[in-house]
Amino acid sequence: MSTSGIVHRPRRLRVTPRMRRLVAEQRLHAADLVLPLFVKEGISEPVPISSMPGQVQHTEASLHDAVAAAARAGLGGVMLFGIPAVRDARGSQAEAPDGILQRGIRIARGAVARVEAETGRPGPVVMADTCLDEFTDHGHCGVLTDDGTVDNDATLERYGAMAVAQAEAGAEVVAPSGMMDGQVAVIRDALDDAGFADTSILAYSAKYASPFYGPFREAVDSELQGDRRTYQMDAANAREGLREADLDLAEGADMVMVKPAGSYLDVLRGVADRSDVPVAAYQVSGEYAMIEAAAANGWIDRRASVLESVLGIKRAGADVILTYWALEISSWLD
Ligand code: PBG
Repeated sequence: MSTSGIVHRPRRLRVTPRMRRLVAEQRLHAADLVLPLFVKEGISEPVPISSMPGQVQHTEASLHDAVAAAARAGLGGVMLFGIPAVRDARGSQAEAPDGILQRGIRIARGAVARVEAETGRPGPVVMADTCLDEFTDHGHCGVLTDDGTVDNDATLERYGAMAVAQAEAGAEVVAPSGMMDGQVAVIRDALDDAGFADTSILAYSAKYASPFYGPFREAVDSELQGDRRTYQMDAANAREGLREADLDLAEGADMVMVKPAGSYLDVLRGVADRSDVPVAAYQVSGEYAMIEAAAANGWIDRRASVLESVLGIKRAGADVILTYWALEISSWLD
């Protein structure tokens, strides 16, 4: 018998890698992960995104290969963003049947179908960002009134048309990310009226105005002057994030999302506790860039930091995680 008087020894469960593996409460799986991808119109070679080392703006051909790789790796989904050659005030290319995002969706569906036929396993769900900021010449997520503010209700009509164009191109999930009031209900109606009752809506429900979207602005050649603080949320507010998620659930969202992930793990936990639909979290461009930059300097262990950051998001309640490391992480899992 021990003379130390210590009865409880939690360290027993940490003594070997086998024991640690057995008792792990969370496990990452490739199927939980969604890879965001950018496709740009009018380029002949992929263009590296300097603030997101390892990520590129894809050509249509390289997008095909990236989606095929995601399919072979068993990822749960891909989230597509389009960068058009021409922008205007209303973001017309967002709903053009041959607009770059719609072309990207068709290419992605083709790549998934090809790999599924080859492997006999389900490929990634094809998702599309439903927002105007990549398509407007002013860079805002909606259309503007004469005094330059974002017009909520006029923007909703545009989102409806955009979602239908994406569904027509083959998007299985549309993901409204503009934080307009009522966007989920309007998109649901538009999809249903157009015969797309089976197209899902992944709502960016609690999306905060964040400097961590910085590298994304480079990724989509954003033209934005100013900020998005009249529609994206204030970092101080957790309760408001829960309310936004409740509203999206009431409007018929099939999945809800918190974004960014790392600075909002409390909001993520809160949404996960009250949501009866799957909950997603987006580990955004700046979260990626920070770890890449610190690792490139030799200040942190890259792989361990990536895994810890994503596991933390899962532990906080995310069923689905959007991360630029999705493909690489899948190659690390057993
Ligand atoms: C809007 C959108 C943004 C991101 C995803 N969808 C940019 C923004 O709201 O400013 C950011 C993603 C990231 O930073 O990785 N289309």
